[in-house]
Amino acid sequence: MLGIIGGTGLTQLANLEITHRKVGRTPYGEPSGALTFGHICDQEVIFLARHGYGHTIPPHEVNYRANLWALKEHGVDRVVSVATVGGIHPELLPGMLVIPDQIIDYTHGRASTYFVGGDKPVTHLDFTFPYCGAMRAALLQAAIDAGIRLRDGGVYGAVQGPRLETAAEINRMERDGADMVGMTGMPEAYLARELDLCYAAVGVVVNYAAGRGSSADGIQMEEIQAVLGESMLQVRHLLEQVVTNDAASACAV
Ligand code: HPA
Repeated sequence: MLGIIGGTGLTQLANLEITHRKVGRTPYGEPSGALTFGHICDQEVIFLARHGYGHTIPPHEVNYRANLWALKEHGVDRVVSVATVGGIHPELLPGMLVIPDQIIDYTHGRASTYFVGGDKPVTHLDFTFPYCGAMRAALLQAAIDAGIRLRDGGVYGAVQGPRLETAAEINRMERDGADMVGMTGMPEAYLARELDLCYAAVGVVVNYAAGRGSSADGIQMEEIQAVLGESMLQVRHLLEQVVTNDAASACAV
């Protein structure tokens, strides 16, 4: 079953026919909110708002472990994670969607593994390719089918937040090879790997990163809000197409 983790601007899915909600408890504490069970085109999906349904949980306080654990416990084996990003690469303009293929992790102090405690063996998992190829391919195919333009590939730089970056930090990240910057990509992607979930992300570029383009003199929050609405419409269409393709049946929408 497909699980969808929504970020800023996507706290609910308009095209999801909700059947029920369930508050999940896990050995790692409580997820960001109740799991929302429903159907898109007759396919069952579970939706979870990463920052809570009232958008009150900042990126560094999200219980990533509980979120993914709860999804898995309820039958999810594939996850699409939606997250806003700032564009560093000159081609990543506000309003664009991108399916990243690599990650650089700048976060710290987050609970980033399930393998803790004396009873667990030391475990090092391969993370050379942090996203699941099959889920990425499904997203790219859905974009083609739905006529949605997006960029295939890019390096996601995961920062701690909640503050935005300085211009010098963005310059450094660019030298490192980061194409986009966001606050929630890690440890989410790695925890998904530990749980053997097929996980990929949709980056929604909502602003030029600090010091770039129209953010040369500072990031304008109003600009972000202006971009968010239209971009999330595209994301909804993309997700609907992913699910429709899953069903391999025509969906009258
Ligand atoms: N920096 C970090 N996270 C973000 C940004 C940004 O510029 N835009 C959206 N999420």
